[in-house]
Amino acid sequence: MAGQGRSPTGAAVTVTTTELPANLLSATLPKRPYPGLRPFEEKEWMIFFGREKMTADVIERLARQRLVFIHGASGSGKSSLVRAGVLPKLARQHLRHGEAWHPCTMRPSGGPLWNLAQEFARLEGRPGESARVDEIVRLFARRGATLASVAGEIEGLAGKRLCILVDQFEELFRFEREISREEAELFIDLLIGEIDTTSELDEDEFGPPAPPAPVNERHAKVHIAITMRSESLGECTRFDGLAEAINRTQYLVPRMSREALLRAIQRPAQIYGGEVTIELAERLIAEVRGREDELPLIQHGLMLLWNTALAKSNEKINLDVGLLDKGVSLASLLSNHADEIMVTVAPDLRRSRAVENLFRALIEQTAKKQAIRRPQQFKELAAISNVDTQELRTIIDAFRKDGVSFLTPPISTEIKDETTIDIGHEALFRCWKKISDQKDGWLKRETEDGILWNLLLAEAMDFATNPKRVLSHAKVQDVNRWLARKTKPWCNRYGGNWDLVDTLLKVSGREASYMRDVNAFATVAVLLLIITSCWIISYIFSENMLLIVIFFISTCIFFFFCVILGFIVLTKKINKFRVRGFSRN
Ligand SMILES: Nc1ncnc2c1ncn2[C@@H]1O[C@H](COP(=O)(O)OP(=O)(O)O)[C@@H](O)[C@H]1O
Ligand SMILES: [Mg+2]
Repeated sequence: MAGQGRSPTGAAVTVTTTELPANLLSATLPKRPYPGLRPFEEKEWMIFFGREKMTADVIERLARQRLVFIHGASGSGKSSLVRAGVLPKLARQHLRHGEAWHPCTMRPSGGPLWNLAQEFARLEGRPGESARVDEIVRLFARRGATLASVAGEIEGLAGKRLCILVDQFEELFRFEREISREEAELFIDLLIGEIDTTSELDEDEFGPPAPPAPVNERHAKVHIAITMRSESLGECTRFDGLAEAINRTQYLVPRMSREALLRAIQRPAQIYGGEVTIELAERLIAEVRGREDELPLIQHGLMLLWNTALAKSNEKINLDVGLLDKGVSLASLLSNHADEIMVTVAPDLRRSRAVENLFRALIEQTAKKQAIRRPQQFKELAAISNVDTQELRTIIDAFRKDGVSFLTPPISTEIKDETTIDIGHEALFRCWKKISDQKDGWLKRETEDGILWNLLLAEAMDFATNPKRVLSHAKVQDVNRWLARKTKPWCNRYGGNWDLVDTLLKVSGREASYMRDVNAFATVAVLLLIITSCWIISYIFSENMLLIVIFFISTCIFFFFCVILGFIVLTKKINKFRVRGFSRN
């Protein structure tokens, strides 16, 4: 199969797709020149500019040492650099040299080995075959296995070049904390096992370099690019050999120069026959230069301006400063855009709550009080956010539709139960006021709810050791009201132990109703006592037969109530004793 297209430099590219990844060599222009908040995808290489030098740097390191550890600040463009810069360029180089070469992209979230095995199964032409994926995971766990040896067992990969992008490597640390340290360690061992240990050694210090290891024809030649936020570097020291590997292979993503930014802003529009005036480009750069969210804010602003201009006219699109209202910052443009989507998808309070739950589930705060993304499978998200799956789909689709990239994957990818849903970029929760508001933003609410759960859990643990420490009636009511909107998977984010808290609430509730009963009966008894006393006094003075009868009846009722009261007190005591015994077990 063959196709024709234009390279970013305008030169014609004839694409022969036999054996080649279609995404990387696709010569079809994407729908829009600006992807917005999310990272560039492989197939968007034609609209990716400003990173030419860094792309060449990374490729050179990949060839030399087989593993490159790319790190930088959030939003510095790490993922895009590899996806739309490195991988497509490698594919084009392969075209020239005719050497078979295969790329794959994975993220550690949810299960690093499973995710990588899924990519291997896809390369083999068996995507989504869980039995095969399981088999490959077992190959990873085999004694002495390396990525090269496992990849060599994948049909069609023996002796071929494979480039694996491990994007968002920092997700591995959450996986290690919450799910399995063992798997995280194995995954790291497999990655760092691929470093070419002969290439970087200093000859004077270590003697002459060792001769290259003999190439095993049955293995694949594996190259790995890893991207990670620099803030997570410290966490890497918790794994054997990882810090050493990073020291030898790291590449800190440099900031884009003003000229590179101008190219990234203006060239995509030109490819689509439009234009971004230099005044607008300069204004965009001036507004965000030196800020944390430089690239995402510019990207989102351009996407929005392009969409607005496109909706108005079909002729040549000319983006000028006039399109940006005076005094409106790129951050508020983003916040207002997210609000607009929210209004369309959540017209009532119930839906607003569903949207809030969705975004709260997709963000977490680190121990250093830093908000980061918390990607999750669709089915986990439905369980944690307490939203019906159909409704959740509708909401997610609104936030990832064409021209909106607040959530990923893009709308072209069908959402299945296992699909990972993520926020397009952290810039969203730094700029969208609904999330970031310091007084009552969703992030603040989520943090407070987490603290509330932890306090409740502390009380439940206290109660387990000392059953007298129950909650007051008012508190039980408050907590039950609050918990009605929470789910078991939600509380697992903050220490779990739902059943422990549930027992505390049930016992406290029973205790409270017991106290209420006792109070009610005591009140009635006192009233009857007063009435009876009045009748006695009247009787003494009147000697009326009717009064005597009434006196007799009310005395009987009084004693009857006393007996019931005694009975309730006794049975409640017995129940309490039972619960205490249970909690001790
Ligand atoms: N070369 C570039 N030109 C224009 N926008 C870019 C470029 N690289 C990245 N971006 C934009 O910057 C934002 C962050 O990119 P991403 O690759 O996700 O960064 P990181 O992985 O470092 O967080 C996204 O909105 C993306 O579209
Ligand atoms: Mg990234």
